[in-house]
Amino acid sequence: MTKRVAILISGRGSNMMALVEAMKAEGFPAQPVLILANRPDAGGLEYAKAEGLPTAVVDHTRFDNREAFDAAIHAELKAANADIVCLAGFMRLLTPGFVNKWTGRMFNIHPSLLPKYPGLHTHQRAIDAGDTEAGCTVHYVVPEMDAGEIIGQARVPVLPGDTADTLAERVIGIEHSLYVDCLRKVCVTSAR
Ligand code: GRF
Repeated sequence: MTKRVAILISGRGSNMMALVEAMKAEGFPAQPVLILANRPDAGGLEYAKAEGLPTAVVDHTRFDNREAFDAAIHAELKAANADIVCLAGFMRLLTPGFVNKWTGRMFNIHPSLLPKYPGLHTHQRAIDAGDTEAGCTVHYVVPEMDAGEIIGQARVPVLPGDTADTLAERVIGIEHSLYVDCLRKVCVTSAR
């Protein structure tokens, strides 16, 4: 059965675009039903609208607390009848109460080889540590940040002279296909 996927973004949305493009393929076990941003100016919203996809903005600055913000997101996800939630550059921490409603059905892509470097500035931290490889991880979302079960990882070398920007560019080049592969995998294997 085709899973109904909501994708949450905060910015340019290149991972979201890769997921949407992949879902156009005949036989892909998922379809996009909502692109939701917490910022009205998130670049990815323009692409989603041009694709004719349903979009929503839940602007975190308009809520008094995180619980109310998360409740508004949950309402949008239910209204879209989403089965699965993909976080794709969504830069807000979600409350445990919300996360627990989506256990086993919410995924994130993180630009490091978890468990190394949860949180921000992953590429600079990899360079500062003298790592010879970096990469990205798709994982289940649990209340603790970037700590859920790993679904898949992809690796790139860290090259001499790399800056956080050059490394980020190399990593984003492998993020898209990893997220697509992992989404396909969870859709066909997950009975959760
Ligand atoms: C990606 O590097 C992703 O791993 C991280 O945020 C970035 C989002 O990029 N969580 P984009 O908006 O998908 O282009």
